[in-house]
Amino acid sequence: MTANNTVSHISPVMPTYGRFPVTLEKGKGSYVWDDKGTKYLDFTSGIATCNLGHVPDAIKEKLEEQLQNLWHCSNLYNIPNQEKLAGLLAANSCGDQVFFCNSGAEANEAAIKLARRYANKVKGSGLSTVVTFKQSFHGRTLATLTATGQEKIQNGFAPLMPGFSYLPYNDMEALNVLVELKPAAVLLELVQGEGGVIPAFPEWVQKLDQICKENGILLMVDEIQTGIGRTGTLFAYQQYNIEPDVISVAKGLGSGFPIGAIIAKEEAAKGFEPGSHGSTFGGNPLATAAGLATVTHILENNILTNANEMAEYLDQQLENLSAKYTFIKELRGTGLLKGLVVDNDASAIVKKAIEQNLLILTAGPNVIRILPPLTVTKDEIDEFIIKLEKAFQSLEKGE
Ligand SMILES: Cc1ncc(COP(=O)(O)O)c(C=O)c1O
Repeated sequence: MTANNTVSHISPVMPTYGRFPVTLEKGKGSYVWDDKGTKYLDFTSGIATCNLGHVPDAIKEKLEEQLQNLWHCSNLYNIPNQEKLAGLLAANSCGDQVFFCNSGAEANEAAIKLARRYANKVKGSGLSTVVTFKQSFHGRTLATLTATGQEKIQNGFAPLMPGFSYLPYNDMEALNVLVELKPAAVLLELVQGEGGVIPAFPEWVQKLDQICKENGILLMVDEIQTGIGRTGTLFAYQQYNIEPDVISVAKGLGSGFPIGAIIAKEEAAKGFEPGSHGSTFGGNPLATAAGLATVTHILENNILTNANEMAEYLDQQLENLSAKYTFIKELRGTGLLKGLVVDNDASAIVKKAIEQNLLILTAGPNVIRILPPLTVTKDEIDEFIIKLEKAFQSLEKGE
């Protein structure tokens, strides 16, 4: 409405997203349906969020159960689901203690705050710098967009937060200057998701870990996109023979219900004490019911075995497709976080895929990002390849 009560023609929703002309109303497993009843194969998983597919029964049941009892209570009281989920995350990672929040950006904010407070209050070093990497993505709050190594994300938001330095990713030589930057912590993605599906080289990560350990720098991994089974292990760091001090997670943790967390080693966790950090909704009974059900279901139902088998099958099929289309330059990624590098406009392919009732993503201008649920089947992968190839053909014909 305008001041004189006439209807304005602008959308009441702020235009912060470039949206596709699709309105989704229902989802089950690897499929979603739009408002006209059209069925789409969803290989985006809500951008690595619905890792168990849409509306998974096991999670739905636990959420419905919790809905009957208590939706929210303040963190001034004990929340049993929080205790159980924290215990499960600690038991299945190198971490010991968990702080709960509501999103990925908030998880990284918590990690940054923990690193600074640990340096100030526990070590008394007064160091505050967090080193991150070029092309990284860590979120949209002021601190996390500053941590993000991409100018396009920071554009227009000056002044940015002080206390961040950036190094090139996967660059061995650049690590020689790390200590000179006097960091309290390093924050990195083990596969840069938004930055183009770029896995970190194991030797590089191990050298980084070694420098951090030798110099008392906290190693913090942003597993918001890679975590909760996306790369074939519960956390991607488990494939690197390292033990980070802090792991941030969100996205897949709640199967679509908003939740974020940091899992910290006991020593790093000393940075927080009562009153030093908090969140009204963080770890509330519903969110932690979703998180608890999700992690339990993954661990108890061989979901990672399926994810790894299907990742291998998907790799083979994408390799076959790459051999047929010269515009495909590279296949990269880990587990079910895959990127196809193309020498043309990836977003044009994504649009053509929608016409074939297939949902996929981009990661930068020339990478197609493919994120099926961890529960995906061979038949669904076959269907995906057929649809993707039809999208390629339609683009080539200039339809
Ligand atoms: C690696 C990484 N970190 C942080 C974020 C931010 O998460 P959220 O959008 O939940 O704040 C994302 C989201 O895409 C991400 O991929």
